[in-house]
Amino acid sequence: MEKRSVAIWIWVWVWVLLVMTVGIGTMRAEGVNKSVSGGLFWSTTKEEGDLVRKAESEESTAVFNENDDIDGGFPSLDGMLQWAIGHSDPAKLKETAESVQQLSSDKLKIRQLEIKELMERLKMPSDAQLMRIAIEDLNNISLPLEDHRHALQELLVLVEPIDNANDLHKLGGLAIIIRELNNPDSEIRTTSAWILGKASQNNPVIQKQVLELGGLTKLMKMVKSSFLEEARKALYAVSALIRNNLDGQELFYAEAGDLMLQEILSNSSIDITLRRKSVFLVADLAESQLGTRNKAEVPFFSNSFFLKSVVELTASTDLDLQEKALVAIKNLLQLRTTDALVFKDFCELDGALERMKQQLLAEEYQRDYAMEIESLRREVELIFHGKLEKVTQVPT
Ligand SMILES: *[C@@H]1O[C@H](CO)[C@@H](O)[C@H](O)[C@H]1NC(C)=O
Ligand SMILES: *[C@@H]1O[C@H](CO)[C@@H](O)[C@H](O)[C@H]1NC(C)=O
Repeated sequence: MEKRSVAIWIWVWVWVLLVMTVGIGTMRAEGVNKSVSGGLFWSTTKEEGDLVRKAESEESTAVFNENDDIDGGFPSLDGMLQWAIGHSDPAKLKETAESVQQLSSDKLKIRQLEIKELMERLKMPSDAQLMRIAIEDLNNISLPLEDHRHALQELLVLVEPIDNANDLHKLGGLAIIIRELNNPDSEIRTTSAWILGKASQNNPVIQKQVLELGGLTKLMKMVKSSFLEEARKALYAVSALIRNNLDGQELFYAEAGDLMLQEILSNSSIDITLRRKSVFLVADLAESQLGTRNKAEVPFFSNSFFLKSVVELTASTDLDLQEKALVAIKNLLQLRTTDALVFKDFCELDGALERMKQQLLAEEYQRDYAMEIESLRREVELIFHGKLEKVTQVPT
């Protein structure tokens, strides 16, 4: 239905409702004008649904009283009624009222149902409906690129609530978004990765689905993209997909995810955001490993070169990166398979921690943050020395 005809329909039905609700008897007895001045409008704090329900329950009996006067809320319908009354001819109104009164109660009920239906249709579309539309647009190849970008931007917002994320797969959206990771347009690829990351975050159901649909492998390739934002969003999505997800982690290692991280960590010319995200992921993976002591530990965690590249991050001038590196080192030190002597002799962790201390104490601009990191640094030092003592103690 067109907007215009919808408006006319509302107008007509509101009239029927109005006439039924105010009570025709009262109108007749006291004259329309007096009724109007006495407060013709029923209480208008409710929503459309309430209005209909009220009309239903009270049928055509008189409902208005002085207390039920205008008490705010719902200004548009209220305004419409005022306008309608102001512009109506009392004789006509009376005629309409009489014709309505002649309707049988069955017919009235049917009309009320029709009003209700109309009101339902006027409601905002649900999130699921909006997602369906966006997915349809993405699938419609005759739409221009700009519309596809726009559809993805909408999905990005819509997937935030966990229920919506779950609906996305039911609507067939995940497969389509994963397909869009291959789009020639980098903006489309970037937003698609972002959506997958958002939807997978703390959501094992979506993680599983994206993994099954082959999303992880594609996202890992995208981390190497020369478009910076694409690489960042891809790494974000990879982290969200494998966080607390052992199947995802297994696949990540099988696809040489460890090498990917090492390359990023050991190359200081790589974007700082990518480096922070990578070391954060290392900390997360090591922590996950700590939680599953029975499983064989990942060889990469005991790779000396890899450990060295993590330790070297402590020399960064970026406090955020330093902090994340410390968390990673702390978790790595607690793994059974990491060797305290490798940290000591090959990574030179003692010297690194000492230099970090001097740097943190000299920090001027972000003193509080630096002090927070310093206390984490001391904790790491203690854990390190504890681990070292265990291996250097002479058995008695
Ligand atoms: C695709 O978009 C075009 C242009 O808006 C539209 O005419 C067409 O009906 C759409 N096709 C589908 C299958 O929705
Ligand atoms: C380090 O990263 C830069 C920028 O991405 C790249 O050009 C360079 O080849 C990398 N160096 C090594 C040794 O991989």
